[in-house]
Amino acid sequence: MRAAGLSEKAVAIAPGIHWVGALDPHLRSFDIILRTANGTTYNAYVVRGSEGVAVIDTVKENFSDDFFRRLESVAGYDEITTIVLNHLEPDHSGALPELLRRAPQARVYLSSRAQMMLKALLKPSGGGAPDYTPVTTGDEVDLGGRTLHFLHTPYLHWPDTQCTYVVEEGVLFSGDVFGCHFCGARLFNDSVGDFRFSFEYYYAHIMRPFREHILDAVSLIEPLELATIAPAHGPILRHLPREYLHRYRELATPRLYNEARSEKTLVIFYLSAYGNTRAMAEAIAAGAERIGGVRVSLYDLEGGDAEIFTDLVEEADGLAFGSPTINADAVKPIWDLLSSLTSVNIKGKLGVAFGSYGWSGEAVRLIEDRLRGLKMRVPVEGLRVKLVPDPGELDECGALGEQIARHLTGRIEERVIDMSELVG
Ligand code: FEO
Repeated sequence: MRAAGLSEKAVAIAPGIHWVGALDPHLRSFDIILRTANGTTYNAYVVRGSEGVAVIDTVKENFSDDFFRRLESVAGYDEITTIVLNHLEPDHSGALPELLRRAPQARVYLSSRAQMMLKALLKPSGGGAPDYTPVTTGDEVDLGGRTLHFLHTPYLHWPDTQCTYVVEEGVLFSGDVFGCHFCGARLFNDSVGDFRFSFEYYYAHIMRPFREHILDAVSLIEPLELATIAPAHGPILRHLPREYLHRYRELATPRLYNEARSEKTLVIFYLSAYGNTRAMAEAIAAGAERIGGVRVSLYDLEGGDAEIFTDLVEEADGLAFGSPTINADAVKPIWDLLSSLTSVNIKGKLGVAFGSYGWSGEAVRLIEDRLRGLKMRVPVEGLRVKLVPDPGELDECGALGEQIARHLTGRIEERVIDMSELVG
């Protein structure tokens, strides 16, 4: 699909550096789940030095014609000495097998974690792996007056990702990071429309679960002289590129202020048809507070949809979910909240389930299964109460809260073993 207003040829972004990507203005969803109201671009680049030509990434396979036409407008295939793969997801590696056929002499540079992916990617073409070199931060390729300097930036948003920096021109080829799904034929951030929404949406849905890695990458990039950030999707950031770097640091920095710093946080979400699961939630909260060192918050999911709780979930050390059982299942707002958790990193957080039930009580086990599926820790068995919790059952809820707090604060009670019990 060709977009109006864009040259069929490569577009210069700096001396000796061209964009050779493709526009996809009619795409409306990406990876099935991500909305792309404005389409997207697949950005690939060519860097020409006096002693070599590098191709940085390729495009989605069905946009190969656009890529090769633009590539041919600035380089012959026999001139290509170097292919850099910053990220191997198919929207950037789709044209790679054909590029390797056309430029078989080129050496591929990629991160160490991308090696197995490269072999898997090239399996269908039957050509085996090309000559490649795994690289990491500080490794360089000298193209003659244009030096490619590699930066190890994994998990942005796959394990294989890296960035490549052209030292002489201050151009950073960043891969997906700093990109967005926005299609503007004028290509540059100071020429296309307002893409702020797309930029933030992309962070929130692609990069947010990897914010520790974002902060590492930003720290690696900040000392560089930066004239242009050239991401793999969306506008090329030549105007105030450092602002986008700052914005990523802001977005990835924990935003809820924990005054005591040493406190752990437990957020208890619940729904309650007749007040029974609420009573359990309150007793669990009271129990956790008795231990000290844990800040406890209670949220009734009837009062808000899942999206508004994302920040809370991201910051929390422990999450408890209380649901009645209705029709042998947990109730929908609980599932809505749990399904929204894929946009934040909750791996390793402590998770607990509880709830009141009428006759079958499946909700607690189902929630626990989901928590384990999300790679949360579920060290404490969930608690079910038939209909109205009596004082003894509320005590059990309180004890559950205490157990949760001990796990969160690392104050697990040691079992005192009476050695005499071990003997015959
Ligand atoms: Fe744009 Fe992760 O691929």
